Amino acid sequence: MIAPSVLSADFANLQRDVEMINASEAAWFHVDIMDGVFVPNLSFGLPVVEAIHRHATKPLDVHLMIVQPERYIQEFKAAGAHVLTVHIEASTHLHRTLQAIRAEGMLAGVALNPHTPVSAVSEILHDADLFCLMSVNPGFGGQSFIPQTYEKVRQLRRMLDEAGSAAKIEIDGGVNAQNAADLKAAGADVLVAGNAVFKAPDPIGMIAQLHGA
Ligand code: DX5
Ligand code: ZN
Repeated sequence: MIAPSVLSADFANLQRDVEMINASEAAWFHVDIMDGVFVPNLSFGLPVVEAIHRHATKPLDVHLMIVQPERYIQEFKAAGAHVLTVHIEASTHLHRTLQAIRAEGMLAGVALNPHTPVSAVSEILHDADLFCLMSVNPGFGGQSFIPQTYEKVRQLRRMLDEAGSAAKIEIDGGVNAQNAADLKAAGADVLVAGNAVFKAPDPIGMIAQLHGA
């Protein structure tokens, strides 16, 4: 599954870019929320998520890069989130947060920064529907992929298979046409792609290429 990251879209032509993704082979819209505290950057907030949701014909995969994400679960549900992902490094009572996300009828995701070992999620393998392995330090689009991610994907795939969990593995950061096939072979289910899609001369063609990789 390919999830283009709206962070790399043209915000002055957001409807046009949303309609481009609607017409492509993308599965989800990846929507990055940054608070300037958990990550050193600000992106956009709830009104923009609502606006994307009004025009999107595919589910919104919302990635919260904010401290204490449990404060905003109902608000993101109301704004149209289908998947709500929080950072393990940002939520002290992660198990409770995941339960609260599921209780709102959303899929619950957990994101791990590059320095966080996959063993950190060993006790919550059945409590999340998606595990997002950050393959860059979160905060900005257009960064280089961290190769250590391959080994983390393989380890997490083994852990999920052994536990009998159907949770998906998502990779976020620096995904492109050169590493997509290797990430899938390692066990990734969802590939987020920002710059690779939106800076390509033919974004719909690039989504198709990533999808077929
Ligand atoms: C990074 C964000 C990513 C970002 C990916 O903090 O979480 O979703 O948009 O962008 P690329 O694909 O350009 O690395
Ligand atoms: Zn993201």
